[in-house]
Amino acid sequence: RQLYHVLAIETSCDDTSVAWLDHDPVTHRTHVSHNLKSTLNSMMAGGIIPTAAHEHHQLQISDLVQHIAKEQKNMRNIPRPDLICVTRGPGMLGSLSTGLTLAKGLSIAWDIPLLGVNHMLGHLLVPRLYDKSLKFPFISLLVSGGHCLLVHSTSVTEHKILCESIDIAAGDSLDKCGREIGLSGIMIGKVMDQFTEGINNPWDIQDHVIDKCQLPNPLTKGTSKHKLAFSFSPFITSVKDFLKLHPLNTLTTYQHKLLAARIQESIFNHIITKILHTIENNSSMFENVSSFVCSGGVSANNKLRTKLQKTLHDHFNSFHYPPVELCTDNAVMIGWAGIEMFDRYSQSISNSLDILPIRK
Ligand code: KG4
Ligand code: ZN
Repeated sequence: RQLYHVLAIETSCDDTSVAWLDHDPVTHRTHVSHNLKSTLNSMMAGGIIPTAAHEHHQLQISDLVQHIAKEQKNMRNIPRPDLICVTRGPGMLGSLSTGLTLAKGLSIAWDIPLLGVNHMLGHLLVPRLYDKSLKFPFISLLVSGGHCLLVHSTSVTEHKILCESIDIAAGDSLDKCGREIGLSGIMIGKVMDQFTEGINNPWDIQDHVIDKCQLPNPLTKGTSKHKLAFSFSPFITSVKDFLKLHPLNTLTTYQHKLLAARIQESIFNHIITKILHTIENNSSMFENVSSFVCSGGVSANNKLRTKLQKTLHDHFNSFHYPPVELCTDNAVMIGWAGIEMFDRYSQSISNSLDILPIRK
């Protein structure tokens, strides 16, 4: 088959996302004709509430799918897609079930194959959608609100996790530290990124109050320094301890910004320390790899991108990122990962209709 059409659904967390992609397996050209998202402002409630996210998906998903399906039918004369891709996990079970159940129903109604896609595989493969120079093998840093993973990939289906977090994810830590220091918004990591604009080397600036905030580089001392793992919850503890002695309302605006910049920088430094540590411990594996990918919500951060390139340029020849709008959760990446798998198996794979959502 030549050109085929894909409907993709992603409901793993609190954003409801639906996309439509047209893919030509002969020319390897892919066109994204819809990329819709309905965002729930979970940060207003102080974090993600699974039941609220579940309800949000149930309220939003049908309208988004119907809107896209109608446009394809009326404007392009395409009565149905040829494949439906849906996030199967990891994520919250209620949220995942909403997308998965609708996808199963559509697969029956339209008599088209269904592919359950791993959310992290979506983040990992999406840089290949537009960047055709990115070839296997490569190393990926997948850094989001739910995960922080360093992965070695040798094909669409072969991935080895080299380093992961023993507690929370980097994005979660940025969000929680940000909330502690009074930042608010839908993506606190992004708010912190903008708030710290202009402070590029926060450790070069001395300040007698902010210097008292002891930000850590976890798992780098004693026996834990050998551990191939990230750890991001100690940053929250440090910020809380500092604020007990120096409440926010006693800081000047500049001190507030400097504190935010140092938190962000420390979290990024920890990521880099552990990547270097992993390279040291797997030197033979890294010898054959020349491409480095950074994807997931936090990869939208330019300071992180610059830091990665500055510190890792001896180990990799090229650095790859998704376009900013595809860094955070979206359905395009689910559609694209599905397409990569579908083509890898000559378009002859699909999941059965009794697949379950996967939490981890
Ligand atoms: O990939 P994503 O949308 O969701 C998960 O799968 O978790 O990532 C969301 C995370 C949030 O923690 C958010 O604060 C962070 O990505 N984020 C950023 C930026 N934009 C989003 N962190 C740092 N800098 C940004 N520009
Ligand atoms: Zn994600």
